[in-house]
Amino acid sequence: MILKIVFYPDPVLRKVGAPVNEVTEEIRDLSSNMLETMYDANGVGLAAQQVGEAIQLAIVDVSYNPECISYLRVNGENKTLEEISPLIFINPELELIGRKDTEVEGCLSFPDLQGDITRPFEVKAKVTTLDGEKLVIETDGLLARAIQHETDHLLGKLFIDRMSSAKKMASKRILKEMQAAFKG
Ligand code: NI
Repeated sequence: MILKIVFYPDPVLRKVGAPVNEVTEEIRDLSSNMLETMYDANGVGLAAQQVGEAIQLAIVDVSYNPECISYLRVNGENKTLEEISPLIFINPELELIGRKDTEVEGCLSFPDLQGDITRPFEVKAKVTTLDGEKLVIETDGLLARAIQHETDHLLGKLFIDRMSSAKKMASKRILKEMQAAFKG
């Protein structure tokens, strides 16, 4: 089922997600609906907050572009993007590594806005799968960026918070229009 994607400035986007302690049938349904919703919207990541649920559940799939990373290790073993995608994870903890890198980002909760966002290029992510398996994911490039972007969502943080002040100024009109549309 395709869910309604929540747009800025819906307050649920600012909520810190509750940790998922038990993977219920409801959570499994939600994650499969989130996948359908993300693919339908041509996104590469989606957090539960973006469909109105403030819990620590997110999905990422960047496997359309196998060249977007230079390495991927899961629990110390080399993996391909295809093998781990789509990645559905709960309760992530991130260790940010390496040089910073700036790339254009978008977000399904901001359909008309894109901007350069600077983030660490590599990540070591400790996540849990829906089957309760603990994964340590080490990677770089777009997968590292997508995991960071989605984990931000789970903590109530949005990509506009990471924009340069110049870009934030330039985006003011779009954000105001979104605020007006939300109230209206
Ligand atoms: Ni987003």
